[in-house]
Amino acid sequence: MARRKTPSEPEAGELWKDEELARLQRALLAWYDASRRNLPWRRTRDPYAIWLSEVMLQQTRVEAVIPYYERFLERFPDVASLAASPIESVLPYWSGLGYYRRIRNFHAAVREVAESYGGAVPSDERFAELPGVGPYTQAAVRSIAFQVPVPLIDGNVERVLARLLLCRDEVKKASTQKRFHAFLERWLDRSRAGDFNQALMELGATVCTPRSPRCSACPLEASCRAHRFGAQEELPRLPERVPSVDEAWVVLVLRRGEEPGEVWLEPREERGLMQGLWEFPTWIGLERRALARALAATPSGAFALLRERGVEHAYELGRERHSILNRRIRAEILELPLPARAPKPSPQGRWVKLEQVSELPIGGFTKKVLRRLGE
Ligand code: ADE
Repeated sequence: MARRKTPSEPEAGELWKDEELARLQRALLAWYDASRRNLPWRRTRDPYAIWLSEVMLQQTRVEAVIPYYERFLERFPDVASLAASPIESVLPYWSGLGYYRRIRNFHAAVREVAESYGGAVPSDERFAELPGVGPYTQAAVRSIAFQVPVPLIDGNVERVLARLLLCRDEVKKASTQKRFHAFLERWLDRSRAGDFNQALMELGATVCTPRSPRCSACPLEASCRAHRFGAQEELPRLPERVPSVDEAWVVLVLRRGEEPGEVWLEPREERGLMQGLWEFPTWIGLERRALARALAATPSGAFALLRERGVEHAYELGRERHSILNRRIRAEILELPLPARAPKPSPQGRWVKLEQVSELPIGGFTKKVLRRLGE
């Protein structure tokens, strides 16, 4: 189909009459009441649970979040139980969700709620001062849990608005965000702020999708400027993508004793990606044939045992692909069986019974390796 030249819309406020916005507000909420997904965090009014769901839903898909959300709440049902637990006992309940900074911040913030607010999540601006609470989270939690009429913008809302308004500017730009904000301030239903915000996100997630949006099922279709010009698939305009980087890893599973036996795990350094998680010894930027040389260069003591036995005794468990942010990882996974009394191969780390590994905080990649080990 030939690309039609489409106009861009003048400033948001000029074209939208109050009556049209009121009609669209009613249409959106009626659609939401009839079509919304039945999600566990929509069956509660507990601000702590709603906050948890919003933290989990950042960067993570709804389907992936549901089992984590339920397990987390079973173990830490309220502010008091989470605040009383050390972070090490909380991290396993986040294992595999990624972006671990989120749970560290959430834990710290909940502790602050316990200490400074008597355990009651604040509904006013002070909520935004808690660790990890950015503009999105404060708007989501305050509107959904407390019905405070604050507009909310996430990736789904950006897409809906870019299309509805036929906005060709980059959606992440400050001026575009300001324009969206001004539009939502007019459009938001002040008596059902939480439902209105969720309805917009829901519309973006289920109807106004990035590709092949289902315009005929959309309650805003008749007013959508992009739809009028057939431009919905060209919008929104996104910033340039960060190019992905290929990375080779060698991952070593040291297993001692009779199977299932114990495996050697090390804590990743506190700082940077995936901090505080336990993982198999990993060499980044290496292939197997270079491992012997890398080991020879390690300080004495560290992995001496492996050096003595020879890397060639390790056999290949398999190869695994994995992505972390913009890194595309191809890992070679080696296993080296060791006698039951094998000493520590390096000062940092510990032997862990294979069946107990899942009690430690581990990341998605380590889970993949464990699946290969039959755990
Ligand atoms: N994405 C993040 N939070 C959401 C919510 N409460 N409803 C729909 N989509 C969401």
